[in-house]
Amino acid sequence: MQKQMVNGVNIAYERRGKGTPMVLVHGFPLDHTSWDALVPHLEGQVDLILPDLRGMGQSDFNHAGAPEGAYTVADMATDVVSLLDALQVQKVVVVGHSMGGYVALAFARAYPQRLAGLGLISTQALPDAPERKAGRYATAEQVATHGVSVVADAMAPKLTANPDQVPALRESILRQPAAGVIGALKAMAERPDSTELIATFKFPVAIVHGLADALIPVDRSREMKAFIPQAVLTELPDVGHSPMLEAPAETAQALKKVLS
Ligand code: MLT
Repeated sequence: MQKQMVNGVNIAYERRGKGTPMVLVHGFPLDHTSWDALVPHLEGQVDLILPDLRGMGQSDFNHAGAPEGAYTVADMATDVVSLLDALQVQKVVVVGHSMGGYVALAFARAYPQRLAGLGLISTQALPDAPERKAGRYATAEQVATHGVSVVADAMAPKLTANPDQVPALRESILRQPAAGVIGALKAMAERPDSTELIATFKFPVAIVHGLADALIPVDRSREMKAFIPQAVLTELPDVGHSPMLEAPAETAQALKKVLS
């Protein structure tokens, strides 16, 4: 992987393929390798930029002197735009999976002029309900005490509807640093409601959701579609929370709809 110091943090990223620039922003508690199955379906016509969000994968947790855990999905979006600046990429399609979707929406809020289109996979515009938010902080405390295995055990089976994929996902979660998992939990808990924002979108939007998603129900994507008339919603039967892993060809086809 390559590394780029942006926004005070070393961000690790891969760049694959040629064509229209597209950033793939991974979900929680994963890293850029969650896109591995999708990449071969896109790299023939897309210039793919695959960052590890701060604190995850091989990216730094925080820059020296910053308070622990004190970052937001907006900071993660600024990391992404700063990486694009460093790579001299202007307009991009930003695709986010789940937490990556929260980051993609934060990117759209702060940097709309940089967007050629948006891909929203297994995500939502709504913020956390109070009990979900409290649950995130409780999980963060458990991770601080017992380590990342708490999250790996609870989440890996929910990330896919295909039981064969659970062991590799569990391993992938176990590779994540505890500080980054805690930071991401807090960032997700504090994310804003993006419902009014999405109603302003004028660029192409692809929305993808598995009908067997155990973490975020497909209704969240149907609601987003209702606010974004030009959006194309692809619902995938028998697919869980990770369409790019469970149905990569169909997911790539859906994302290509935002390429001009
Ligand atoms: C994710 O897959 O990124 C997370 O499950 C999203 C969330 O917990 O809201």
